[in-house]
Parts: sequence; C-alpha cells; structure tokens
Amino acid sequence: MEQYAIKGGNPLVGEVEIGGAKNAALAILAAAIMTDDTVMIENVPDVRDTNVLLQAMESIGVIVNKIDRHTVKINASQIHDLVIEDDYIKKIRASYYLLGALLGKYNKAEVALPGGCNIGLRPIDQHIKGFRALGANVRIEHGLIITETEKLVGNHIYMDVVTVGATINVMMAAVMAEGRTIIENAAKEPHVVDLANFLNSMGANIKGAGTDVIRIKGVTKLHGTEYTIIPDQIEAGTFMFAAAVTKGDVTVKNVIPKHLESISAKLTEIGCEVEESDDAVRVVASKPLSHTHVKTLPYPGFPTDMQPQITVTLGLAAGTSIVTESIFENRFKYVDELTRMGANIKVEGNTAIIDGVEKYTGAGISAPDLRAGAALVIAALAAEGDTTIDEIHYIERGYEDFYLKLQALGAQIEVVNSERDLKKFKFKVVG
Ligand code: EPZ
Repeated sequence: MEQYAIKGGNPLVGEVEIGGAKNAALAILAAAIMTDDTVMIENVPDVRDTNVLLQAMESIGVIVNKIDRHTVKINASQIHDLVIEDDYIKKIRASYYLLGALLGKYNKAEVALPGGCNIGLRPIDQHIKGFRALGANVRIEHGLIITETEKLVGNHIYMDVVTVGATINVMMAAVMAEGRTIIENAAKEPHVVDLANFLNSMGANIKGAGTDVIRIKGVTKLHGTEYTIIPDQIEAGTFMFAAAVTKGDVTVKNVIPKHLESISAKLTEIGCEVEESDDAVRVVASKPLSHTHVKTLPYPGFPTDMQPQITVTLGLAAGTSIVTESIFENRFKYVDELTRMGANIKVEGNTAIIDGVEKYTGAGISAPDLRAGAALVIAALAAEGDTTIDEIHYIERGYEDFYLKLQALGAQIEVVNSERDLKKFKFKVVG
C-alpha cells in the first residue's frame, strides 16, 4: 500500500505553481458535452477526480482527446447512452454533474444516486427541486436518479440552502430551457462563476454568476469553444497554510488573489505576513502564531475545504482557538489522527476547541478524506520526527503532484510502497 513518508521540521521555502481548479474542472468538463461541436479546455488539473469524470464521459460515447497533460478536447456528438453507472459515482460524486448536462441537452438522464461520504450526509434535494421546477420528472429507482421531460421550461427557483452542486446542476439544465430561469440564493464560489463564463463562451446567456441571483435566458443551441480553467483556490490555500505551519516563506504563483482573501485575512490575523501581487501571494511566517476564531461559510466566507488546514495550523498557535464547521456535519474526523501527533483539540458537535501546543510529533496516521489528508501532511511537515500517512489516494483525488511540489519547497516527503522503502527513506533523511 502506498504511503507518504515524511520527516518534519523543515520550513517550506520557495515558489509553487498552482494548477487549474479541480472543482471548476469537474463542472466544466461535464458541461462540455452540451454541444455537438468540439470543445477545448486548458488548465485541467491531472488529478484522479477529473480523470474518473472523463472516463465516465467516455463510457457514454464522448470522445476525449488529451492534447497534453492539462489540455483536453471533448466531442460529444456521438453520445449513445444517457446512463451513468454506479462505479463512477462511487469513485467521484461529481459525476452527478452529468445529470444536469445530459438533462439540459437531451431532456433525459439517468445517473446512479450518490450516497453520503466521509465528510457528511450530502443530500441532493435541491438539485431535484431545481430540475422539477424546470419541468422535469424526477424519480429514484433501483439506485438511479431518473429524470426526463418533453421539454424544459425556465422558472424562478429559490435554493433553500446555498449549494454549489445544485447551483451548478440547475444552471446546466436551464441554459437551453425555454424562457427565463432565475436561481435565487445561488452559490457564489469562483467555480460557479467559471462554469457560467464557460457556458457563456459556448453561447449561453447567463448573468449574475458570483452574486446570489443568477439569471439565465434559454438559448436553443450551444457551440464549441476554447476555455482556460481558473486556478485552484484550495490548492493555493493549502500551500499558504503549509508555509504558516512550517514557519516558512512560500510564494504561491498563478493564483487569483481575490479568491484567496478570506484565507489571507486569517493568516494575517494569526501573525503571518501576506504579500499580494497580480497573480501571486507570498506568505512569510517569521513570528510565533497566535490563536483566532473561524467559521466556515459559503464564498466569500472561509471555505469548508480549508477547515482542516487552518485547524492543524491553529493546533500550533499560542492560546485557544475555535473553529466552527457550518457546511458539513462530519468534517472533524481527522482530529483523532492529529491528536495522535500531540494536538490538544476537543470537538463538540460542529465546533473544535483548540488549545495550541508547542509541537506535534510524528506518528503513523491515515488520511480520512481529501482535504483532511492534505492537512495531515502539512501537520507532519511541521512535526518533530517521522510520520507515515496511509490512504493517500484520497489526497491524489484533488492535488496534482502534491508531494513533488512540497519536495521542491524543501519538504522531506516521499511515496513509499513497502517497509524496505520506508527504511531507505529513514536512512536517507537521517544521513
Ligand atoms: C462542493 O460540494 C465541493 N465539491 C466540495 O469540495 C465543497 O466542500 C463544497 O462544495 C462546499 O464548498 C465540488 O465542487 C465537486 P454543496 P457540494 O452542495 O456541491 C447542503 C473538495 O474537497 N445541501 O455546496 O456537494 C449540503 O449538505 C470537495 O474538493 C443540501 O442540503 O457541496 C451542505 O451542507 C469536498 N441539499 C451544503 O448544502 C442539496 O441538494 C453545501 O453543499 C445539496 C447540498
């Protein structure tokens, strides 16, 4: 089984290039099937989630042509099936974006129903509510969500909760619906805006993405386009916190600093210096870190996908910090692993009360999910001694070349496959 072997204690120093946003790519790749013309998409991160989605698309007849590691050409004129199998949904929930995309293009789709996952229950009631409001019949049978209609007709939809997934799915279903659709209480995340820009570049008429009211005027057809995906806010934020927790000096390059504002603000609050330029942010952590309070919120609030990274950082900050998770109910599972490294954190419901400790110490731990896995890696980089992290496939779902990028910043981290590899690593880092 593959593991990360990490020897902590080196401050991370240098520059790191941030890739394309995984969560924007998932929406945009799915939306690319909504035209019969060829679509070229650049800056697609080469991570497990995007690759599985592309395989799901190929399974129904979409032609996927990888031009280079980050550029893909998609042609969906030969789709022969409107059913997305369970295997793909089990591997990656976001395959359900094909529901909105296929429904919007063909007025019919069948996609396996996604279950809960390691971070919480993950209901899809708002997706279903949106499809129904557009005139689609939606039923759940034999583990599939089956949705079909004669035609989709625009409507006024109020989302009961702010949800990225439902905003994206309903936006795709509505772009070719007859008449106007208004989505109120829409999610404002950068990837929602990126999807809207992409669809508009295909001929859609979407206004207001990035605000809480999205207005869509249905068009009859979408056409081919060339599009570049925005940089990944969460990958950037993860490296920014890695700089903070290791007392380093890291410049994250190829980012949109505006998307990082809530992250930069918290880093400044706990004692880091954050310098912004046009497309880069530098984080310098030369002073001791101090405590703060933070609550995860929909954008532009502090992202839930950065909650584990800030928690591991506050675990080493002087004083008592409080982190409140308001988006997913089960996103503190990793705290048990962090406790094994010496953290002093008490979780009560959706709140973590953190008493900062002087240091973490290396341990054998396991990644419970994608972002928590990345957070445990950065904890290990700050820890005294050696750490091994299991289940690193979770981390590879969303971070391209994670350990290589960390190595380039001076981290002692390697992928090991066996006891022998591990011994070699330990010998190397000691020697
Ligand atoms: C997206 O998930 C992201 N995934 C998640 O990133 C991210 O954590 C989340 O948004 C919040 O920012 C992708 O973009 C592929 P939501 P999504 O719908 O769309 C409730 C990562 O690590 N809700 O915005 O599934 C839900 O329970 C992943 O990259 C309903 O009640 O999240 C939650 O409390 C993990 N009914 C809240 O809304 C619904 O129909 C927000 O969920 C849908 C959601």
